[in-house]
Amino acid sequence: MAGKFYIRSFGCQMNDYDSARIADLLREAHGMERTERPEEADVIVFNTCSVREKAQERVFHDLGRVRRLKRERPGLVIGVGGCVASQEGEAIVARAPYVDVVFGPQTLHRLPSMIERRRAGACPQVDVSFPEIEKFDRLPAPRTAGASALVSIMEGCSKYCSFCIVPYTRGEEVSRPLGDVLDEVRGLAGRGVREVTLIGQNVNAWRGEADGGASADLAALIEAITVFPEIERIRFTTSHPREFGPRLVDAFARVPRLAGHVHLPVQCGSDRILAAMKRGYTVLEYKAIVRRLREARPGIAVSSDFIVGFPGETEEDFARTLRLVEELGFDASFSFLYSPRPGTPAAQLRDDTPQQAKRERLARLQHALDTQAAAIAHGMVGGIERVLVEGPSRRHAGELAGRAENNRVVNFAGDASLAGRFVDVRVTGAAPHSLRGELAAGS
Ligand code: SAM
Ligand code: F3S
Repeated sequence: MAGKFYIRSFGCQMNDYDSARIADLLREAHGMERTERPEEADVIVFNTCSVREKAQERVFHDLGRVRRLKRERPGLVIGVGGCVASQEGEAIVARAPYVDVVFGPQTLHRLPSMIERRRAGACPQVDVSFPEIEKFDRLPAPRTAGASALVSIMEGCSKYCSFCIVPYTRGEEVSRPLGDVLDEVRGLAGRGVREVTLIGQNVNAWRGEADGGASADLAALIEAITVFPEIERIRFTTSHPREFGPRLVDAFARVPRLAGHVHLPVQCGSDRILAAMKRGYTVLEYKAIVRRLREARPGIAVSSDFIVGFPGETEEDFARTLRLVEELGFDASFSFLYSPRPGTPAAQLRDDTPQQAKRERLARLQHALDTQAAAIAHGMVGGIERVLVEGPSRRHAGELAGRAENNRVVNFAGDASLAGRFVDVRVTGAAPHSLRGELAAGS
C-alpha cells in the first residue's frame, strides 16, 4: 500500500526519535512517503506530549482540525501516539471518534499492523501497553539524514518526581543492551554519521547488559563508542543529578570526544521544594556535581530545566532559585510554570500562590537565564569553535549552519560540500539564538 503520511511531533527528543522511527516503519512496512502537507496525506499521525497541560490540549485542538479532512476523505487514517495516547487510551476514541489508531511510546512498532486491521474493517485500534524492550527488536534500522543522529538507549523513567507524568506514560526505566546500542552506532558510523546523542528520559540511569551477564554504565558506553573513529562527537541527554556519579564526571576528563555540554535539570534552588518534588538531592549536592564537572572539563557548558510555582513555593524559595542561577551561571536553559498533571502526587497538594505571582516569577527567572546565555554567547565572539556542519542555513540564504560544542547554531559562509564535516569557525557575532562566524584558516 503506497501513499503518503504526515507526522506531527510534540514535546521532547524522545518523541522526535520515536517520530523518526514511525516514519521508518511506514516507509518500510507500507512503502509510504512522507509529506509535510496533512491535506495530501493518507495517514496522519500525531506523536503527542502530556508533560504540561498546554501541550496536551494542543493535541485535541489539532485533531479537531484534521477531522474536516477525514470528512472529505473517509479512507484517511488518523493515528495518535505518544504520552497523551498512553495516558488517555480508549478515552481518545471516545472524545474523538474519528481517530482510527491509538498507540503508546512502547507499542509504536505495532502501528503498521494496527493500521492494516483498521483498514480491513476492524473497530478503532487501541494498544498502549508496555511490552518492555520489544519495541527496539521490532524496529527497522534507523534511516539517517545528516551527520548527527539520536540514539535511544533507554525507555521510561523510574524516578517518580512528584510533579511528573512521564513514569506513568512511558513506563519504568528499561535499558537496551550494550551490544544492541553499539550495533546501532556502528551502522550510523558506516552511513556518514559523525555525532551521536544518546537519549533517554533519564539517560545516566542506563545500565546495559554487557557480555557474560555483566552490567555496563553510561561512562562505559561512552568509552565503548570511542572505538568508532568516525564518531567524532558524543552527547547524552537528559541526565538526573541523582545518578551523576564520579565515573560519569571522569568521562569528561578522559574522553575528549565527549562534548563539553551537560543538560542537568535542577528544577529549583530550594531544598524544601526539592524534597516536595521528590528529586532526591539537595542544592549543595547539585552544586558539588557542577563543581566537579568544571574541574574535569574546564569551560563545560551546563544547562538546566526549572519549574516555577510548584505548590507551596514562597518568595523565599524562589529567591533561592535566583541565587543558584547567579551562583552557577547556566547556559541556555528551559523554565516552565508548574502544570498540575492528573494522577501525579503533586496534583493533590494545596497551592495558594496566585497565578499572577507565578507568572511574574517565571518572567524574572527567564530574564536572568537569558542574560546569562547572552553573556556566554558574547563571550564566544572572537574564539574558534569546532562546528559540525548540518547543511544550508535556514536563516541566511546561501550560508551553512552547524552546531558548536555547546549546541549553539553557528551560521557562516561556506561551500555546500562541507555538510556532514567538522570545521573550525571563528565566531564573529552573537544573536539571541545563534552565532555568526567565518571559516577559520585551514578548515
Ligand atoms: N528527564 C526528562 C527530560 O528528558 O527532559 C525530564 C522530563 S520532562 C519531559 C522535561 C522537563 O519538563 C522537566 O525537567 C521539568 O522541568 C518539566 N516538567 C515536567 N513535569 C512538569 C510539570 N508538571 N509542570 C511543569 N513542568 C514540568
Ligand atoms: Fe520526570 Fe523526574 Fe523522570 S522529571 S522524566 S520523573 S526524572
